[in-house]
Amino acid sequence: MVIAIDGPSGAGKSTVARAVAQALGFRYLDTGAMYRCVALASLRSGQRAAALADTVAIELGERVLLDGEDVSTAIRAPEVAELASQVAADPAVRRALTGVQRRLLAHGDWVAEGRDIGTVVAPRAEVKVFLTADDDARAQRRARELGLDAARVLEEQRLRDERDRTREQAPLRPAADATVIDSSGLAAAQVVERIVALATGR
Ligand code: DC
Repeated sequence: MVIAIDGPSGAGKSTVARAVAQALGFRYLDTGAMYRCVALASLRSGQRAAALADTVAIELGERVLLDGEDVSTAIRAPEVAELASQVAADPAVRRALTGVQRRLLAHGDWVAEGRDIGTVVAPRAEVKVFLTADDDARAQRRARELGLDAARVLEEQRLRDERDRTREQAPLRPAADATVIDSSGLAAAQVVERIVALATGR
């Protein structure tokens, strides 16, 4: 089974997706980490992201490894987030990473989070959730996580969300058959419970 969790940044996707995977004994796929790895590799080497997307070795698990190096912290830097949003609009980058993601999701049970899992990567996912929250709630959540100023996070978030929503390739939008959950007033545990219920038919 594949559970697809899409939505904008700061809606709580990672926390919720990890917890759902743990509750159900499924594997967890953070596709945003892949775009971040390609962005970081491009930032460091000066090479075009499209050229790197096919060649870098990305390993996802407890830690994120890029060509064998632990980059779990480095990929969370604001400049990497900004560049990740830019490289994610490149069709060649999307093609390479979507291919890797589809191969992974073809076997076993997964909770996959991203922007286009339910629409493009796994359109036949058994459960699709579009997790959202109002702008302020999302900015505050990210500012807390990253130790940054909420007003600055809000401004950068607006730019990246706009780019993610309006790009030509796999724009951020709910799949027609997705369950939309607004997490603004909900605790993560409540969101997890709803998704587990969707998956188990309870
Ligand atoms: O979820 P995140 O913030 O780690 O994602 C980083 C960037 O990658 C973000 O700008 C959106 C983009 N992304 C995407 O376009 N498609 C995905 N499936 C996952 C992330």
